[in-house]
Amino acid sequence: MDGISFDLERGQTLAIVGESGCGKTSTASAILRMLPRNVAKYEGRVEFDGKDLMTLNNEDFRTQVRWRAVSIVFQGAMNALSPMIPVGRQVAEPLMLHLDMDKEEARAKTEEAMESVGLPRYTVDRYAHELSGGMKQRVVIAMALVMRPSLVILDEPTSALDVMTQANIMNLLKQLKEEQGLSYIFITHDLGLSSELADWVGIMYAGQLVEVGPAETVFPKPTHPYTQKLLSSVPRLKSEEKPDSIPGTPPDLTSPPKGCRFHPRCPFVFEKCKSFEPPFFGQTDRSACWLLEAGG
Ligand SMILES: Nc1ncnc2c1ncn2[C@@H]1O[C@H](COP(=O)(O)OP(=O)(O)OP(=O)(O)O)[C@@H](O)[C@H]1O
Ligand code: SF4
Ligand SMILES: [Mg+2]
Repeated sequence: MDGISFDLERGQTLAIVGESGCGKTSTASAILRMLPRNVAKYEGRVEFDGKDLMTLNNEDFRTQVRWRAVSIVFQGAMNALSPMIPVGRQVAEPLMLHLDMDKEEARAKTEEAMESVGLPRYTVDRYAHELSGGMKQRVVIAMALVMRPSLVILDEPTSALDVMTQANIMNLLKQLKEEQGLSYIFITHDLGLSSELADWVGIMYAGQLVEVGPAETVFPKPTHPYTQKLLSSVPRLKSEEKPDSIPGTPPDLTSPPKGCRFHPRCPFVFEKCKSFEPPFFGQTDRSACWLLEAGG
């Protein structure tokens, strides 16, 4: 992942949106320093509550930041719950490991966490196979909340669920955000879903952020050609208009195109785009596109 930059205030949600394979999960893993060791090289700044997290060594990062301040609901986490251990014990594990709680104390906190995500307290003794998809997703959200972090990264938290269950989980996320003043980084390929929760939106293409701005500006009036294409590719009920599609395929990230990475697929491409990478232009809504140079 290269050149990613964004700010997020407490209680706000940033939605990161992009096609499959554009690097959303890698971005989330990088924030928590959880990229595979053989590929990971971390550069830049991640500032949180006024502290530059990049200056922390790995041990301090692990004990002070991960799960306590920033937690993550991994993509597909509900399918990775252990079938051998009651789900409550899996939720309680970080409390015993990081906060040195004894079994009883951890169980009480876990029951509270289950209740806060709309599950009965007795769920702690259930095994994953005894729960529905929606219940399992609530368990992994409880897992991310149990250490009381202020920022939660949600990587495609509803994409494996049917639409009704998806709506229930979205409502739960909204309610938790209001009750606990949580900030979210909400990762999705679904523009519709992102608009439900987002205060800010970041659009990713080929491992880079290409547009970032307030949701109320980006959704009605996107400035990057890729975002424009992405928005017009969303099918609308009751509309006669055919959804647009983007010609070509996303590039191989091991050898991305020179210049603007979107140039082979962009309808507005011109010479400069093929050789020079565009910086961000714009004030509140910022886009990396040469068309916006000098106010475009
Ligand atoms: N900037 C980058 N440069 C090179 N490779 C990258 C970059 N970002 C991601 N990748 C690689 O691309 C692949 C897909 O990335 P990732 O899983 O983050 O995509 P994603 O957007 O989460 O996709 P999905 O929507 O399918 O979950 C991974 O193998 C990752 O290592
Ligand atoms: S920089 Fe050029 S190729 Fe890239 S999005 Fe803008 S117009 Fe299209
Ligand atoms: Mg992903």
